[in-house]
Amino acid sequence: MFKNIVCAVDGSQHALRAAELASELAAKVGAKLTFLTVTKPVKLTEDVKRYMAAEHLTGSPQYVLDELTERILDEAKECARRCGVEKAVMEVKTGNPARTIVSFAENSGADLIVLGGRGLGDIEGMFLGSVSHKVSSMAKCTCMTVK
Ligand SMILES: Nc1ncnc2c1ncn2[C@@H]1O[C@H](COP(=O)(O)OP(=O)(O)O)[C@@H](O)[C@H]1O
Ligand SMILES: [Mg+2]
Repeated sequence: MFKNIVCAVDGSQHALRAAELASELAAKVGAKLTFLTVTKPVKLTEDVKRYMAAEHLTGSPQYVLDELTERILDEAKECARRCGVEKAVMEVKTGNPARTIVSFAENSGADLIVLGGRGLGDIEGMFLGSVSHKVSSMAKCTCMTVK
């Protein structure tokens, strides 16, 4: 059975479902569970500016992004705890999401990658997001796309 599961999370509802499934599976088979979120190199985009204004946040965008990342991982950690996973590992990496997820899984000896079928993007009519599509085609290990 799976021994080393990597679950990629981006703060979306789909990723949360992936986190739930990965947590239940890890608890059941006693696998190591790592949550990975990939952040972009800092750029003050319009979205970040709007978010900062709406939340009355000041300071550098890196700080705001760190906060967002922390929230994403906290949510995943809480999910693992609810499902009975004793110690989930939290990882933050910077770079291209799909490539980073695949290389992290390879380097850490993962035998399963779990991710959502869609993420934060909202292109209607698409069944699979580009990250899930790329990861499942590039990964050397088994990939589970949660719908
Ligand atoms: N930056 C990221 N870091 C970690 N996981 C991600 C990231 N972006 C996407 N994912 C994973 O890939 C899944 C599919 O997202 P994605 O392919 O980006 O869909 P969309 O195009 O709808 O945003 C997400 O549910 C999440 O599990
Ligand atoms: Mg996306």
